[in-house]
Amino acid sequence: MSSIDLVEASKLTDAVAPVQLRNVVRQFGQQRVIDGLDLDIAPGEFVALLGASGSGKTTLLRSLAGLDSIDSGQLRVPKARAAVFQEPRLMPWKRAWKNVILGLRVPNAKTRAVEALTEVGLAHRLEAYPATLSGGEAQRVALARGLVREPKLLLLDEPFAALDALTRIRMHRLIIDLWRKHTPAVLLVTHDVDEAILLADRVIVLANGKIAEQLTIDLPRARDTGQEGFQQIRACLLKLLGVETLEPAAQANGTARQATASSVRRFAHG
Ligand SMILES: Nc1ncnc2c1ncn2[C@@H]1O[C@H](COP(=O)(O)OP(=O)(O)OP(=O)(O)O)[C@@H](O)[C@H]1O
Ligand SMILES: [Mg+2]
Repeated sequence: MSSIDLVEASKLTDAVAPVQLRNVVRQFGQQRVIDGLDLDIAPGEFVALLGASGSGKTTLLRSLAGLDSIDSGQLRVPKARAAVFQEPRLMPWKRAWKNVILGLRVPNAKTRAVEALTEVGLAHRLEAYPATLSGGEAQRVALARGLVREPKLLLLDEPFAALDALTRIRMHRLIIDLWRKHTPAVLLVTHDVDEAILLADRVIVLANGKIAEQLTIDLPRARDTGQEGFQQIRACLLKLLGVETLEPAAQANGTARQATASSVRRFAHG
């Protein structure tokens, strides 16, 4: 038996978790990708989801986004939700602003598109076609398309993975600014442990179809990798992920840091 409950924005109060999953199962043939998963996300909470490649992160996100069903269990999500994926998924024949309001039936749609594109720093690219946008710009259009729907839950599936390091840092700042302003609950899938610690209130780890580990990140914001406590949380998280960390003395030098990062990638790609 499965049930999916879509909660109207007006019914969401501080006391009602916008996301509540109980004993959720999703299987493909004999493969149980999600296997009795329980998860609550509080209003306005920023949660990062880590897990090995093939552990079911995208499957979970697709179910939350309403793009896929579940086989059994209970799933409650806000009706107003939006998803952004690793690739921006824009219609190549539509201008940026038209991509933003694709499928949205509201009065003053163009005004809403302009506002959303302005918020992501693309007021000057309203009329651009996707092929003329950089990777970071295209991803910001995808983000604007999510925002314009005023989501109570924003689902992000490795949205920064294909971007260069500098663009990724800018996107981190942008996403935090937008999250603070609009206060949706966020579920961000990432393979990047540092990204998870920089952005999230809580990091959860998916393994064997369930939330296997979780860690609350209580570092003050704005965060950076050099701040006090960051490396301890990083080491703790890597341990939860089953990745060997280096001796603290060795971590101080750059070569060692690189080695740690490649261990994370090895974990991430199974
Ligand atoms: N529509 C489908 N039909 C059959 N199998 C599927 C389908 N969608 C996903 N799977 C399988 O479910 C498992 C989990 O896939 P999923 O895409 O959720 O993993 P993931 O954690 O997002 O991995 P990655 O980190 O590589 O993106 C994989 O073994 C995948 O092959
Ligand atoms: Mg995936």
